[in-house]
Amino acid sequence: MQRQLIWDIPTRLFHWLLVLSIVAQYATAEWMDNATQWHFYIGYFTLGLLVFRIIWGIIGPEYARFSQFVTGPKQVIAYLRTLFDKNSPSVAGHNPLGGWFVIVMLTLLIIQAISGLFMTDDIFLDGPYRAMADDSTLDVMNTLHHLAFDILIWVIALHIAAILFYAVYKKQKLVPAMLHGKKDTHSPAIKSSKLVLALIVAVLSAAALYYAIDVLPPEPEIEEYF
Ligand code: HEM
Ligand code: HEM
Repeated sequence: MQRQLIWDIPTRLFHWLLVLSIVAQYATAEWMDNATQWHFYIGYFTLGLLVFRIIWGIIGPEYARFSQFVTGPKQVIAYLRTLFDKNSPSVAGHNPLGGWFVIVMLTLLIIQAISGLFMTDDIFLDGPYRAMADDSTLDVMNTLHHLAFDILIWVIALHIAAILFYAVYKKQKLVPAMLHGKKDTHSPAIKSSKLVLALIVAVLSAAALYYAIDVLPPEPEIEEYF
């Protein structure tokens, strides 16, 4: 076994920025008064992170790619059989079960961020897509924004519980690898973090977001009072 670079820098940055953003989104929605504007800005940033991760999942280094860690039911079942086996070898990237869990988390987060674009604080601030949607769409989006988070809280709790399970029961420490990127493994290392490509993808994601948030939606109608 050799110490090999598995998680590229952009994937690690994505993860920890995502964690900070979700905590901030919870704080600005639930704990702080008058923080809705910040909730919007951080929500756009989170959406940008997710757009980046989707593209990175297609063109990023080996272990960041969806095609590497999204497997069929056979692999998932085979992996499930070894789940409580203390000596099962650690997997270099996401394991077959964890891979699907990542997809569930990303999907819920995307639903959360997109439904937010239709929300209102009922006082001053409307999400950029609110004016474009009819009442039944707004109802659905409002339900989704609340429901997705109620589910996300449990999914995140399970994510952290799984990491603890691996550390305590299986003696596999996954968190250090998400920090420095390296794991002791027989699998090959990635050649590089593809930082220039990541920068281009980040700029493209930001541009796509600017278009979706600032250019695409119509100007909000200003009500005139006489
Ligand atoms: C808001 C809370 C969190 C969210 C939404 C979240 C989300 C995610 C996502 C989407 C991934 C997949 C990474 C990728 O391939 O891009 C991931 C992986 C990971 N997360 Fe989190 N995470 C959260 C909190 C945490 C915390 C607090 C820890 C540390 C205790 C942690 C440790 C890890 C580790 C170690 C992995 C890699 C798992 C593996 O080796 O397969 N996460 N997380
Ligand atoms: C992934 C990103 C996001 C997360 C995790 C998130 C999370 C939350 C949470 C937990 C709540 C409170 C729900 C409740 O009370 O049950 C909330 C409310 C809200 N969110 Fe988000 N949100 C996100 C993105 C957005 C975006 C992009 C917008 C708009 C551009 C937005 C607009 C709102 C509004 C207007 C409310 C209602 C605030 C109020 O009650 O005054 N959210 N969000």
